[in-house]
Amino acid sequence: MEQELLFEEEFVKEPKTKSELKMEKLTIKDLPGVGAATAEKLESAGFRDLMSVAVATLGEIVETTGVSESVARKMINAARDSMKMGFETGTEILRKRELVTKINTGSAAFNALMGGGFETGAITECFGEFGSGKTQMGHLLAVNTLASDPEATVVYIDTENTFRPERIKQFAVGADLDSDQTLARIMVAKAYNSDHQMLLAEKIDSLITEQGKKVKLIVVDSLTSHFRAEFIGRGTLAERQQKLNRHMHVLSRIASSHNICVYVTNQVMAKPDQFFGDPTTSIGGHIVAHASTFRIYLRKGKKGTRVAKLIDAPNLPDAEVCFEVTENGLRDVA
Ligand code: GTP
Ligand code: MG
Repeated sequence: MEQELLFEEEFVKEPKTKSELKMEKLTIKDLPGVGAATAEKLESAGFRDLMSVAVATLGEIVETTGVSESVARKMINAARDSMKMGFETGTEILRKRELVTKINTGSAAFNALMGGGFETGAITECFGEFGSGKTQMGHLLAVNTLASDPEATVVYIDTENTFRPERIKQFAVGADLDSDQTLARIMVAKAYNSDHQMLLAEKIDSLITEQGKKVKLIVVDSLTSHFRAEFIGRGTLAERQQKLNRHMHVLSRIASSHNICVYVTNQVMAKPDQFFGDPTTSIGGHIVAHASTFRIYLRKGKKGTRVAKLIDAPNLPDAEVCFEVTENGLRDVA
């Protein structure tokens, strides 16, 4: 499938310059030194658009394609040149910010924590131990997104087989929506492994541009479980991180180019060398942490409550709220 370059597509359409129009049509096959065989090797290794080549290392390209270093360098440079990696004015950024909407959580305290709700145009990562409420949050955001916009569609990438239509129906009741119509507006895909998960994320562009779906929320639950299961041992860590990086990059591009809220869940693991404070840390390390605009740490509180701690946000203070998951939504707990 030919992947068109959609990097930094503007929310507000403006007449495009000739070079921009030319740039949009470029694919991996247009890079110098890339014939059909090399293109196939690149694509099967996960390099599906020019951006993925532009951010690749020399070693990655050489290893994947078997071309010489100088050819690989030319490919990377050409991919970089074709990218619109320029600067934007503060005014342009502000105009994009004005299009950002916030998805309601149903809890006043949680909304306040997030500056009004979960932002579109950004990735929000929720990490926490089993049963902390990450999947519940995904279901709830799906329903509340649909409640906020009658034209919206939700994409749900399920890697752990924990999407439950019954739960959607219960939250739909809480949001005063027709439960069958709500279910019909959620497009669920089960990801069987990390490659499949990455491919599904890349397909979202065509849902929007070819099928005309107004995708407003993408849930990836869980972001890291396949990666964690498939890459075991120290020797495979670098490869895992590279793939995860590429996946995060795709999600981040889709979030910003289509003004979509991307919600990803992540597990925690014990930090063996920590003796003070909370000894847990999230999977995926700095790659996931860095690519997420907002990061929430969820944990179980007293008497069945849940505590959400905002630990990373560009323009909000770190803070904590307590809430409860109920049959039909969230409830604030003092
Ligand atoms: P892992 O995926 O295992 O890492 O956990 P998670 O963080 O995704 O947990 P999940 O969101 O599945 O939370 C499960 C918890 O949500 C349960 O232990 C319940 O406390 C709560 N929960 C799930 N369904 C219901 C429900 O129908 N009613 C109520 N009141 N609570 C529910
Ligand atoms: Mg879960």
